[in-house]
Amino acid sequence: MNPCGAAEVSPWTPDSWRTRTALQQPAYPDVAALDRALAELRQLPPLVTSWEVLSLREQLAEAALGRRFVLQGGDCAERFVDCTSPRITNMLKILLQMSLVLVVGAQRPVIRIGRFGGQYAKPRSSAMETRGALTLPSYRGDLVNDPAFSAEARTPDPQRLLRGYERGALTLNFVRALVKGGFADLHHPEYFDLDWAGHSPLADEYHHMVTTISDSLRFMENVLGVRAGETDRIDFFTAHEALHLGYEEAQTRRVPRRPGWFNLSTHFPWVGRRTNDPSGAHIEYLRGIENPVGIKVGAGFTREQVGRWMDTLDPRRAPGRITLIHRFGARRIAEALPALIESVRAEGGVVAWVCDAMHGNTQVTSGGIKTRNLDDVYSEVEQAFDIHAAMGQQLGGVHFELTGENVTECIGGARGAGEADLARAYESEVDPRLNYEQSLELAFLIARKMKNGR
Ligand code: PEP
Ligand code: CO
Repeated sequence: MNPCGAAEVSPWTPDSWRTRTALQQPAYPDVAALDRALAELRQLPPLVTSWEVLSLREQLAEAALGRRFVLQGGDCAERFVDCTSPRITNMLKILLQMSLVLVVGAQRPVIRIGRFGGQYAKPRSSAMETRGALTLPSYRGDLVNDPAFSAEARTPDPQRLLRGYERGALTLNFVRALVKGGFADLHHPEYFDLDWAGHSPLADEYHHMVTTISDSLRFMENVLGVRAGETDRIDFFTAHEALHLGYEEAQTRRVPRRPGWFNLSTHFPWVGRRTNDPSGAHIEYLRGIENPVGIKVGAGFTREQVGRWMDTLDPRRAPGRITLIHRFGARRIAEALPALIESVRAEGGVVAWVCDAMHGNTQVTSGGIKTRNLDDVYSEVEQAFDIHAAMGQQLGGVHFELTGENVTECIGGARGAGEADLARAYESEVDPRLNYEQSLELAFLIARKMKNGR
C-alpha cells in the first residue's frame, strides 16, 4: 500500500508481462531464432492505426450504452493456406449479410468485427498430443506450428510469426480494398451475395429484405438528394486472441501526437478463458495498451476476479475499454450470467456485453467428432437477451465461430444437418464453425428476437 491507501501499481512496459506466469506459450527449441524473428517483427509497419483503434473504442462505448450492436465472427483459427481471395470474400460476404439482417432487427448500427488478420494462435487443453506410440507438441495454430502429425511439423518455428504477420497484412489489405472499392455498398447488394447451394428459403427472405433496403435508399436519395453511405471509414474491424505475447509485444508501439501505447496488430485484442487470470501475464500485457480489450468469461469466474479485471484493466471505469465476452453454454448461462452482471455492477463497471454462444456449447459425438448444435447456440443467445433485459440492461453483441464456406462442422439448422453429415465437409483443425447458411439463419433468428423485444 502507498500512503494514500491505494494498492501499489508496478510500472507497465510492453514486456512487463515477462515478470508474470505466461500460460499457453510455445516452447521454442531455438531461442536465438525466436529473438531474431521478434526483432524483425518490431521493425515492420503496423497493420492498423491508432485512430481506427480509438474509433472502435468509441463505438464499443456506444455498444456498452445500448446504442450499437456488435457482430464479432470468423474462424476459430485462421489457416495460412486459407489466405485466398475466395475465402476472404466469402467471410466478408457472410459477415456483411448477417450484419444487414441484424441492423434491421436491432434498429441500431452494427459494429462488424472479424476474427481475422491475425487469429493464428490457439490455446490448447494439453501441451502434448499422443497418437499410438508417438507423443508430439500439440498444434497451437499456424503462428506456432503445423497440424500435420510429425516431429518436424509440430516443432514451434519462429519464422511462422513473420508468415502470420504477413498473411494478416495480406488479409487486411484485401479487406480494405474491397470495402473501399464498394464491395459493401448497399446500392449493390449483389456484390456480397453468396452463391446459394440450391434453393434456400432463407435466400428468399434475405433477398426480399435487401431489396427493401436498397429501394428505401434509392427513394431517400432521390427525394432528399443525399447520397447515403459514402464514407471512407473502414467498415470492418479486426480482432484476435492476444495469446502469443512475444508477437503482441513486438507490435506494441507509441504513435506521434497521442499518449500511450497501442497494439497495432489488431483493433481489438481479447484474452481467452484459459489465460484470463488477473495475476497472469496476459492481463498484465493488456493493462498498458490503449486498445479496447475483450475478456472471455466462462463458468467458474469469481466476484474477486471481476473486481481485479476492472481495477487492473479499467481503473477509470471508462465505457468502451472492456468488453466482456461471456461463454457459459446454453445449459449454464441462466445460473452464471446474473452473478457476472451483479459483480460488474458492484464494481461500477460499464462494459459492452457480448455473448459468445459457441465455446460453452461444444459437444463430442459418439464417433469422437467435435461439434455444436445450432439449437444450443441460438438458445444461449436468446437467454442472454432475456437475462440482460430482466436485469435492466442490454446485450451489446454476439460472437460466433463461422465461415462463408459450405462446411459441415455444426449440426442443426433449417437444412437439418445431423451427425451423419459431419464427415462430408469437416475442415476445422480446432473448433467447429457454423456454415454460411447456419450463420444467416442465426442472424434471422436473432433479428426476430430483437424485434420482438422492442
Ligand atoms: C476461442 O475464441 O477460440 C477460444 C479459445 O475461446 P475461449 O477462450 O472462450 O475458450
Ligand atoms: Co474456438
